Amino acid sequence: MRFGVLTGGGDCPGLNAVIRAIIRKGERVFGDEIIGFVDAWEGVMSRRTLPITVETMRGTLPRGGTVLGTTRGSPLDSPDGVDRVRSTISEMGIDGLIIIGGNGSLTVGEILFREHGIPVLGVPKTIDNDIEGTDLTFGFNTAVQIATDAIDRLHTTAESHDRVMVVEVMGRHSGWIATHAGLAGGAAVALIPERPFDIVEVCERLVRRHSRGRFASIVVVAEGSQPAEGTIDVPDQTRDEYGHIRLGGIGSIVAAEIGLRTGFETRPVLLGHVQRGGTPTAFDRVLSTRFGVAAVDAAREGKWGSMVALRDNNIVTVPLAEAAGRSRTVDLDLVSNVAEMFFA
Ligand code: F6P
Repeated sequence: MRFGVLTGGGDCPGLNAVIRAIIRKGERVFGDEIIGFVDAWEGVMSRRTLPITVETMRGTLPRGGTVLGTTRGSPLDSPDGVDRVRSTISEMGIDGLIIIGGNGSLTVGEILFREHGIPVLGVPKTIDNDIEGTDLTFGFNTAVQIATDAIDRLHTTAESHDRVMVVEVMGRHSGWIATHAGLAGGAAVALIPERPFDIVEVCERLVRRHSRGRFASIVVVAEGSQPAEGTIDVPDQTRDEYGHIRLGGIGSIVAAEIGLRTGFETRPVLLGHVQRGGTPTAFDRVLSTRFGVAAVDAAREGKWGSMVALRDNNIVTVPLAEAAGRSRTVDLDLVSNVAEMFFA
């Protein structure tokens, strides 16, 4: 059989490991041909491909990013986009497309399948871990490790100067990275989008720590965190060219407020895209490999319109509709029953 593969949305550690596994299983086990489309949907619509084989993927397992390149945007953004995808598939003799993507790409995939009958299969990717239908996405473990390493380093400089370090982490509208990195890094406070924060309460916590002789504190702020209504003002959010809300900056606002209200020396630290770059952890390499192998099995079984997923440590397939148009928020049980115990 012949399958197309594309990587969509923001890059994420483990993408190459998925591509490598798809090829290893497809080519070596079934004699399938895998066609890599360059720059996500742009490549599909304009038939820009990269020859990918077991040989060409050698050495890419530990490499971050994606050998295929990626873009945001989709065939649904242009009037002839869907027709172009359809003709690429039929003229290149492709049996189906494997989309390695996050919420946006999987939602587009679901619409292409349901409304236009295009055979697509999803592989859930994102450092944010915010995809419904799977217990975990690959890339998340790596991002949490990077954020935790950064927090570990910030502890020593914070302690040397008796400072509050406010670390902003990614995650879009979910607090997965903030909660896990906050817990793993021994933060004093972690602010997440799922729970609007009261800056007065945050400052009170830090003051209490101070009075106990803890003069250095780490505050983790998820980029999507919002102040509770009527507390502090934040500038209106802007959008990127695809209409996605541009996040980032709340960490600096929180740091400034803490400094002003407590008088403690405070510094903001924006981790940004460092969390997405570089080599995947061993855990993510294994999860990516399991997803890639399962994607080929599912494609060969004709399970179009579905997504491979991790459930209770088993790899399964679930309908793409479970993930499409939704965003998975953090496990509030973990926040209330575990994390809160450690946050100041
Ligand atoms: O979804 C992954 C992610 O890294 C988010 O955590 C972040 O908000 C966003 O992508 C950043 O996107 P961009 O690459 O467009 O700056």
